[in-house]
Amino acid sequence: MQDSLLNRKFNLSHYLNTQRNITDQALSKIIKANFSDCRLSSAMQYSLIASGKRLRPVLCMAAAETVGEINDDVVMAACAIEMIHTYSLIHDDLPAMDDDKLRRGKPTCHIQYDEATAILAGDALLTLAFEILSDQPSLPENSSIRLQVIKTIARAAGHNGMIEGQMRDIEAETAFIPLDELKKIHQLKTGALIEASVIAGAQLAGGTTESVKQLKIYAGNIGVAFQVIDDILNVEGDAAKMGKATGTDAFRNKSTYPGLLGMEKSRRFAAELINNALHALDIFGNKAIPLSALAEYIIKRER
Ligand code: IPE
Ligand code: IPE
Ligand code: MG
Ligand code: MG
Repeated sequence: MQDSLLNRKFNLSHYLNTQRNITDQALSKIIKANFSDCRLSSAMQYSLIASGKRLRPVLCMAAAETVGEINDDVVMAACAIEMIHTYSLIHDDLPAMDDDKLRRGKPTCHIQYDEATAILAGDALLTLAFEILSDQPSLPENSSIRLQVIKTIARAAGHNGMIEGQMRDIEAETAFIPLDELKKIHQLKTGALIEASVIAGAQLAGGTTESVKQLKIYAGNIGVAFQVIDDILNVEGDAAKMGKATGTDAFRNKSTYPGLLGMEKSRRFAAELINNALHALDIFGNKAIPLSALAEYIIKRER
């Protein structure tokens, strides 16, 4: 069957539901095993089980399927990444950062609890993610891959990745920045963790150096595109569908693609990035149908 035909037969919403369920069930197990009946656990759980799209776990598992199979380690890495992502959202919404009051359709963590609890819940989710990554019983021969994955995720989340991106994003509220710096911010604050999700899934499923290299190109492109679309949705999206406020970037004087390029060129740029991502999947043939459908979803999404 031709690729395009197979692509059309692929049911993305069914796929998303299945992979999200796998993620949510595994997250529930983690919550049961690690959280207690206290304010801190309650705040961590409040933000974690809210209705996120679970895109990073889905990408992690789809990357695994592209080069091999989804195994327990892949699911655990997917959950750890979702915990890191959730921590980043809790902190991103704090008054000292973007000062947002709604997230995933609910009051933000600091509104529901208080600022100190939100800061600590974020810290705790980040730390627990690495405990989980290093805690999985798996075959001894997998331990060097596991270490590699922990390093990939740590670098992506850390001061050379997401946190540096968040720093630059805040600095760019009070300074004019050129387009290449904006791309760098988007790569760092959002692209880095998306890239790590894909690479971690591929590495834990036994991906070869060559396949990981191609998937890195794919993920680098969809990561930036994801944030360009986030910028666009902040201008013209439906807040009720997104579960978060719109118009906030302009209000906070954020540097964004629509702000710098205008809406039309921003859309075209996102489409170009998705095209680059799709090309990088060529070597995988039909194995990459989920990843290519996910790339297209990123640009068409409404939430
Ligand atoms: C929001 O990420 C923050 C960005 C990096 C743009 P998502 O849009 O993936 O948020 P959830 O997980 O679905 O809530
Ligand atoms: C969020 O970027 C990036 C991280 C949380 C690391 P934004 O601030 O643009 O995302 P939203 O619009 O609040 O979800
Ligand atoms: Mg922000
Ligand atoms: Mg924000």
